[in-house]
Amino acid sequence: MSFQEITQDIINHPLFIELQDVQHHGGENSLYMHSVDTAKCAYKLAQKFHMPEERVCSVTRAALLHDFFGYKWRSAQHKRYKKYYKGWKRVTHMHAFIHGAHAAHRANRIFGLNERQKAAITCHMFPLAPMPTNSEAWVLTLADKIVASKEVGETVGWHIRKMYHKVID
Ligand SMILES: [Fe+2]
Ligand SMILES: [Fe+2]
Repeated sequence: MSFQEITQDIINHPLFIELQDVQHHGGENSLYMHSVDTAKCAYKLAQKFHMPEERVCSVTRAALLHDFFGYKWRSAQHKRYKKYYKGWKRVTHMHAFIHGAHAAHRANRIFGLNERQKAAITCHMFPLAPMPTNSEAWVLTLADKIVASKEVGETVGWHIRKMYHKVID
C-alpha cells in the first residue's frame, strides 16, 4: 500500500488539520509537518527493515498520530494541571513524559488503534517513557528522533538567518 492510501483518512481529518496551527520545535515548523514527516520516515524504515505489510501500515498510522495529544502544553491550563502535582510526581507529569500516553488515548478514541500501536505511541519518548516492547514502537521512536533532530537543526539555521538579516538590513 502507498503512504497516501495508508494515511489519507487521518491527514484529511479536521482534528488532524488543526495541528497546522501548532508550532513545534520552533521556526516555521508545525506539529502537522512533524507528524507527517515522522510517518514518512517510519514508513521508509519499516520497509527497509522488511516488516510485513500489515505492520508497515500499523507503524505508519501510529507515527502519524504519535503527537496527537490535543492540548496546548505551554498554556495556562496545562500549567495549572502540572501544579496539581508536587515534587517528583510533578516531574513525571511534565509534557515530555506524559504526552505519549495522552496521544495514544486520544488517537484511539478518534481513529481506533490496535494494542501494538497504542504501546508504540505511549513509548515514543523513550528513554523518558517506558522502553519500547514491539517492533512498531522501536521504529516509531527512531523515526521521531531522526525527524526531531533534523527540525532542531533547521530551527537553529532559521534563527541564524533571522539574526543575520536583522544585522544586514
Ligand atoms: Fe512526542
Ligand atoms: Fe514527535
